[in-house]
Amino acid sequence: MKRSILKHSTMIRAIEIKKDFPILNENAHRKNLVYLDNAATSQKPKSVITAMTRYYEEFNANVHRSVHKLSELATEAYERAHEKTAQFIGAQSGEEIIFTKNTTEALNLLAYTLCKNLKAGEEIVLTEMEHHSNLVPWQQIAKEKGLTIRFIKVGKDFRLDIKHARSLITDKTKIVSCVHLSNVLGTINPVKELAQLAHKHGAVMVVDGAQSAAHLPIDVKDLDCDFFAFSGHKMLGPTGIGVLYGKKSLLENMDPFLFGGGMIAEVTLTDVKFADLPAKFEAGTPNIAEAIGLSAAIEYLEKIGMTTIAAHEERLTEYALVRLSTIPGLTIYGPHNTTRRGAVISFNVEGIHPHDLASALDRYGVAVRAGNHCTMPLMNRLGINGSARASFYLYNDTRDVDALAEAIGKAKTLFKV
Ligand code: ALA
Repeated sequence: MKRSILKHSTMIRAIEIKKDFPILNENAHRKNLVYLDNAATSQKPKSVITAMTRYYEEFNANVHRSVHKLSELATEAYERAHEKTAQFIGAQSGEEIIFTKNTTEALNLLAYTLCKNLKAGEEIVLTEMEHHSNLVPWQQIAKEKGLTIRFIKVGKDFRLDIKHARSLITDKTKIVSCVHLSNVLGTINPVKELAQLAHKHGAVMVVDGAQSAAHLPIDVKDLDCDFFAFSGHKMLGPTGIGVLYGKKSLLENMDPFLFGGGMIAEVTLTDVKFADLPAKFEAGTPNIAEAIGLSAAIEYLEKIGMTTIAAHEERLTEYALVRLSTIPGLTIYGPHNTTRRGAVISFNVEGIHPHDLASALDRYGVAVRAGNHCTMPLMNRLGINGSARASFYLYNDTRDVDALAEAIGKAKTLFKV
């Protein structure tokens, strides 16, 4: 490893960034928290919390409904959130941004609407490393309609077998849907290459960006994916807001998923004309405060820069991979170098159940996730029941990795392994 990486000074000044996050602040209720569960959810900076409080305290009103001043202010902020999100991922405009509850809802929306007109025998291609959100919706609709799902294999190197992908994606394929950054392995998948393959055969490309949008610069035009789904809460924003990006030409031709107020242009007792994008897909009173919170989160991330964040995490991952691999009995599930790899490290320690390990680490102030990470088929593929997982973000630094390694050492002593 390059020696410079070991120096704290080469990182983002995480110690300064932590001050923006009330929960990580040294005066916080839980002192010296080493938070390494960012793939489950991220912590929130003060600016996000303030933006949402300001909405409730200063201009709380419903959007797109009333003509009074408060409603105008709320509508403006809600629409600005669409535009800001569009620009964050390189979409053409806010019309291509549908706010949902989370990534799961965005993927359900796609499964129901895209498969509506598919015929029995037509195919969907997924991968063996999908999170349940990008598996179960397709699986259920496939059962109902007699569609076939094929899975791109994960190789021994914890990466997708692209040769296998080439053989699976054929003219029968109508949809390819793939996770961008695996929430277990940390692998970054070649979604641009998969999009080219999908398009060559006339299929649409869906990218599950739940783990990538928070950590990598995203340009949906460059990826040339047709749809890209992600969640606000993993990128410093609040829970309860997800994003579905879709190419305008495709969204315009799709049926809505949910029906009700807010998504209509005209209704009679027997028929309806739907509203324009994005309202057509946002039935009912939307998540206004959460959209405003997401907007503030994007502002915070952009102030630091997604390229800077990605570089910081790459250095931190390199440091963590080296540090953890020196621990006897510890096995890492994921690529052992930082090439096309994110800051998620799953591991097991011989002789300690992952849940026991996570509980022991918590006792030493280190928060990680343990279990199957909502990827039971991948666990089977890896031949394990579960793992512990440390996942990093912009406010983590090498001190946090050291704290993790030391806590694992203490857990080993505790369990006498
Ligand atoms: N999908 C989230 C995780 O991996 C919840 O923890």
